[in-house]
Amino acid sequence: MPKIDDVYWLIRAIGDRDYSNARRQIVAMIANEKSNGRDKAVAQLEQALKSWGDNNAKLVELPQNIKSMLYQPECQKDLPQMFLVDEVLAAVNDFMNERDFAENLREAGLLTRNRILLAGPPGNGKTTLAGVIGKELNLPVHILKLSGVVDSYLGSTSKNINAIFEYAYGNRCVLFLDELDAIGKARSGAVSGTGKEYSLTLNTMLTCLDRLPASAVLIGATNMPKLLDPALIRRFELKLWLDNPKAEAIEQYITDYMEKHTVYFDRSHNLIGQPWSKVEEWCIEKHRNVILGRDGGCTTNWIGGYE
Ligand SMILES: Nc1ncnc2c1ncn2[C@@H]1O[C@H](COP(=O)(O)OP(=O)(O)O)[C@@H](O)[C@H]1O
Ligand SMILES: [Mg+2]
Repeated sequence: MPKIDDVYWLIRAIGDRDYSNARRQIVAMIANEKSNGRDKAVAQLEQALKSWGDNNAKLVELPQNIKSMLYQPECQKDLPQMFLVDEVLAAVNDFMNERDFAENLREAGLLTRNRILLAGPPGNGKTTLAGVIGKELNLPVHILKLSGVVDSYLGSTSKNINAIFEYAYGNRCVLFLDELDAIGKARSGAVSGTGKEYSLTLNTMLTCLDRLPASAVLIGATNMPKLLDPALIRRFELKLWLDNPKAEAIEQYITDYMEKHTVYFDRSHNLIGQPWSKVEEWCIEKHRNVILGRDGGCTTNWIGGYE
């Protein structure tokens, strides 16, 4: 059965005579039924959609140039393996658990949240967390780096953003928009030239976010949230800051690493102020040195004096 949230948005779209949005909601419902293996319902809905009119009947196919920019990450980690500060972990758990209460929320006139913004310095788990959330929700994650879309397709950025969202509606997934600030940069003229292009792109993004069907999940990520337009930030119901680790967390990571791999190495380090990715690399490097009987420093840094 279609989710009540989706039906709600469908009714609203029809009420607003916004038929392209209504069609989008139906496409999302079909994708939902498909992922649940309800072939009969899929056939019925597709048939019904066809009778809507031939122009509307075609399900969205992404242009090849955009398709090649989307990729699905392999997610190695689960939530308990990620080091997150307590508030962030609690917020992620709440977000996921909330989906079991969609009906109750709906009855109270509320919608399930489906838009998350992840921000923080590089290497602190934005991409990893998106993968983990997809895994937990049992949905594939499609990653798209927005800088690529904005850079390479000057002039057709909004059209492409629309196409990507349509694609996400029709293919039940978590859509992960990485480097969301690429849209912010366009305003300064650094990338996309004119301010007109910028406001068109931003408005398209805002509309797409407003119309996101309840069954879709969107995760945005940026290292530079200051570059984002406040209106864009406001669209995200959950905003998580993934920061460089604190000293105690680094110690805990090293302890856990040694326990998990039954290895012991000298734990004096210089990792304060570094992101999680560096902590991980450092442990792996130490581990490798133990296995190879070497006594080296961290070779993941530049060797040979690069400043
Ligand atoms: N909070 C974290 N806990 C454990 N490992 C992490 C964490 N954040 C990042 N890592 C590790 O660092 C690497 C880079 O993380 P990534 O998700 O690509 O960061 P970002 O997308 O924020 O740049 C990954 O291999 C991941 O396993
Ligand atoms: Mg990333």
